[in-house]
Amino acid sequence: MPNQNEEEMVVTPWKVSGFIDYDRLIQKFGTQPLTEELLNCLKKHAGSLHLQLRRGYFFSHRDLDWILDQYERGQPFVLYTGRGPSGRVHLGHVLPWIFTKYLQDTFDAKLYFQLTDDEKFLVHPEFTLEKVQGFTYDNILDIIAIGFDSEKTKIITDTKNIEFLYELAIKVARHVTFSTARAVFGFEDSSNIGIIFFPAIQAAPAFLESALTKRNVPCLIPAAIDQDPYWRVTRDIASKLGYYKPAQIHCKFLPGLGKGGKMSSSMPETCIFMTDTPKVATKKIMNAYTGGQATVEEQKRLGGKPEVCPIGLYHYYLFQEDDEKAYELWRKCKAGELLCGDCKTLLAEKVKVFLVEHQRKREEAKDKIEKYLM
Ligand code: TYM
Repeated sequence: MPNQNEEEMVVTPWKVSGFIDYDRLIQKFGTQPLTEELLNCLKKHAGSLHLQLRRGYFFSHRDLDWILDQYERGQPFVLYTGRGPSGRVHLGHVLPWIFTKYLQDTFDAKLYFQLTDDEKFLVHPEFTLEKVQGFTYDNILDIIAIGFDSEKTKIITDTKNIEFLYELAIKVARHVTFSTARAVFGFEDSSNIGIIFFPAIQAAPAFLESALTKRNVPCLIPAAIDQDPYWRVTRDIASKLGYYKPAQIHCKFLPGLGKGGKMSSSMPETCIFMTDTPKVATKKIMNAYTGGQATVEEQKRLGGKPEVCPIGLYHYYLFQEDDEKAYELWRKCKAGELLCGDCKTLLAEKVKVFLVEHQRKREEAKDKIEKYLM
């Protein structure tokens, strides 16, 4: 059983561990739960609710109500999300990006997509800058393959496009003391001075559209909740710069294929990478931990626990679009009518189709990169 003790729950931009109690996280971070009313408001604009909203994968927000209200009064908003290029992109990363595309399509919104190669160089002493820049190029292909509108999406790589960020970053940095940064991010005496300044660089794109257009433009940030510390600092100083506080919509973490913990590149055998061959992905899935019982007999008698099972959760949050079929799969698992091997085979088939299609788009992306760059 996961340890439900709050002490065990660590959620920072660089570390996520322990059993994640999302209700408690809402309280701890001071965010708001996504209400029925807000979901209905999103549905009104989108026509239908995205799977990640229907199934509670996106669960929390700050000022989403305000930004939708502004939108309804004729004030459009920009979207902002990002990636720290520290290796290959995995399924967990693309979940919020798929949702960001849904928001872009629904609200016809401009998107700033930041690649923090500086951050990853600063926090990984084992990486040269050239290595991180190699990951950056590779990750950009995955981002473009998601299908963002090339007319409305700008990809910013920190070391390449710093001229767009630096003025904003120093304006942010002047209002954030070391004491605040240490309290929010857990910096220590041994932290290098680059990473201490870095939160100002991640804050900057939230104000970029306003700075470039010289109008105050609201900004909405879709991401997993691990990035929330950045937005707390950004929101605190926004009005000092004369800008709106950026709004957020937060998702949960996709678990890895092992027991407990989020999908994380630091444990590659428990990740499905977007560049894994279907054969490799199938092997990882077939070797995965599940919420099933130790024997077939027990599984049939006692049923499984899809809520703690990565295989069950991948079906639910990503690969089973049809609600009826998703609930039926869940029910059958709990009732002991579905065995783990069959459930894994079902998932492996879907993952294969998904990866082949993504990798095809990734190849096509190589000729489109210029259109997306800042
Ligand atoms: P990074 O590269 O760690 O993560 C990229 C995006 O993926 C989310 N994420 C996950 N979501 C679900 N399940 C998981 N297992 C999982 N692991 C990661 C992250 O929340 C993020 O949305 N510093 C950032 C880069 C960044 C950024 C941003 C992210 C710059 N500006 C604005 C979001 C929004 C980083 O290293 O993300």
